[in-house]
Amino acid sequence: MARKKVTIVGAGNVGGTTAMRLAQRGYADIVLYDIVDGMPQGKALDLLEAAPIEGYDCSIIGTNNYADTANSDIVVFTSGAPRKPGMSRDDLLAINRTIVEENVDKIVRTSPNTVLLMVNNPLDAMAHLAFKRSGFPRSRVLGQAGILDTARFRTFLATELGVSFKDVQAYVLGGHGDDMVPVLSYTTVGGVPVAKLIAPDRLEAIVTRTRKGGQEIVDLLKTGSAFYAPSAGVAEMVDAILLDRKRILPCSAYLDGEYGIRDLFVGVPVVLGAGGVERVIEIELTVDERAALERTANSVRTLVRALGM
Ligand code: LAC
Repeated sequence: MARKKVTIVGAGNVGGTTAMRLAQRGYADIVLYDIVDGMPQGKALDLLEAAPIEGYDCSIIGTNNYADTANSDIVVFTSGAPRKPGMSRDDLLAINRTIVEENVDKIVRTSPNTVLLMVNNPLDAMAHLAFKRSGFPRSRVLGQAGILDTARFRTFLATELGVSFKDVQAYVLGGHGDDMVPVLSYTTVGGVPVAKLIAPDRLEAIVTRTRKGGQEIVDLLKTGSAFYAPSAGVAEMVDAILLDRKRILPCSAYLDGEYGIRDLFVGVPVVLGAGGVERVIEIELTVDERAALERTANSVRTLVRALGM
């Protein structure tokens, strides 16, 4: 039986790091695609040369030609301009729109049955664009953001309490923007609701830091944005889909009435398995959380409208 095939479009920091994480898992062949001549080939060769040391035996190729990506099981879409200091994710809308449209057309032609996993910003609007442009069913287009935002929230909570990151369960829902929604009513540490463990002012500070988590990295790096944690989020989603794990993970998914939101991509808990987004899970939210989710959905809708969609 042939291995599953993953194509990563965009061989920058997120693409390259995602390729490395997936290579180390070893269950899928990897194609790294970019328009820059030599760069995906160089990164793929470098990764392959690590194989004897790391012990993986999947194939890893770099290419500037979509023919090499044919019949992928998942296409991870990382291409696009990253943020510079002072830019919001939304400032990237116009630049990344063209990149998405051109590439999605090629992906549809070469891998008509693929799951399309969007990672570029502004995330939810780009997922919306890719969904409409591809004509794929909603189960096969989704975006990575909630795992990253939730991981940041869990990191800060665990650090605050001096406990293992593993023992913090949380959800950050909504659009991948400054009004994302850390859902405190579903945030527990060792099973204990977080509000019982951390004072309100500290909790508020952690929520604010989470919302600005991407910005914090951009300001530190000065060139480019985060990639280690984003690629870890992508790899967790690829695992769930290609290994049919039925994981419940916060992802940007197309809503058609769930949470009272229609015709929009917003971060919500979904079941991820071989079919892609197999189910949207509707958790019960407090009145305030629901209002916050509506606010973030409105922000996403403004971007989608700006795309003329
Ligand atoms: C972040 C950017 C990449 O959250 O969206 O790090």
